[in-house]
Amino acid sequence: MATLLDGTDPRAIRLATEALRAGELVAFPTETVYGLGANALDERAVAQIFAVKNRPHFDPLIVHLADKELVSQYATDIDHRAIALMERFWPGPLTLVLHKRPIIPDLVTAGFDTVALRMPSHPIARALLQEAHLPVAAPSANPFGYVSPTTAEHVQDMLGDALKFILDGGPCAVGVESTVCALIEEQAVILRPGGVSVEEIEAVIGPVTIRVSSQPDRRSPGTLPSHYAPRVPLQLVACGVPLPRPGVGERNGLLLFKPRPVEGYVAVESLSRDGNLREAAVNLFAALRRLDNAGLDRVIVESVPEYGIGRAIMDRLRRAAA
Ligand code: TXA
Ligand code: MG
Repeated sequence: MATLLDGTDPRAIRLATEALRAGELVAFPTETVYGLGANALDERAVAQIFAVKNRPHFDPLIVHLADKELVSQYATDIDHRAIALMERFWPGPLTLVLHKRPIIPDLVTAGFDTVALRMPSHPIARALLQEAHLPVAAPSANPFGYVSPTTAEHVQDMLGDALKFILDGGPCAVGVESTVCALIEEQAVILRPGGVSVEEIEAVIGPVTIRVSSQPDRRSPGTLPSHYAPRVPLQLVACGVPLPRPGVGERNGLLLFKPRPVEGYVAVESLSRDGNLREAAVNLFAALRRLDNAGLDRVIVESVPEYGIGRAIMDRLRRAAA
């Protein structure tokens, strides 16, 4: 079991910093999900991330920074779009893919000549990055392919045995991962919808291309069709259509966008009390996890409206159901 440390305690930040400097892994909260961090410049430490998560080496990691000013140490060709997006959304749930500098080990970027950079807004993540004075490579702190963690307990349940410390910051405020936006070509490409909506990004840099989530993209191998998946089979249904009636003796669960009367389900979760997409995102992964642990035969999942952060929710639900 890992030790849960109160991330608001400066002594905890110091312990976590020492661990990072010693080449160890530290789990920490961000505003999106919990991350599994290592010194991005230490190849041996980064290798442990892949081992602990059982993550394939073709899936590159996001490097977390304490400050916008640090971007030019790790990336080149930082154009006006990158600057405008950083000004508007950093610190926050937006990851930018830029041309990498050689100082970033190839292991971090899966051999690509690009690097994904993000400056998180969570105060505990920022305190850690500032105190450590290091770029921190961190994927979500879950075994590869499983649902991302939004509490310290989720991390403890899944990876506790492999870790010394987990910084506890309570539940994450956004609940889905950062938006990944590639600025490598003339056309900006959204590789993964996330905490910053496509509409918000387009308001700053104009029209973007959105990668289709049913197809893996060679530029973002982590965006595999099947991902974020609980063990229980999920069946996604359109919003507002009549729900399939569970058969006799069938243990079915239901994940609703907002509460409504239903019959025949042994476990029902609602993502939002009143149909608020931001609230739904916050609750998404914890609800999937509870349903996964309820001993069900399958879970029917109601779709949510696909705009704003709803796009990120639907991306995760489709891949969880794939
Ligand atoms: O919100 C988040 O982004 C969280 C927190 C911990 O910051 N992190 C996270 O990391 O979701 P991970 O490893 O679970 O997802 C990283 C995504 C993957 O889809 C990966 O393929 C993509 O970012 N990615 C990383 N580096 C890339 C690169 N150089 N080019 C294209 N995609 C990249
Ligand atoms: Mg992940």
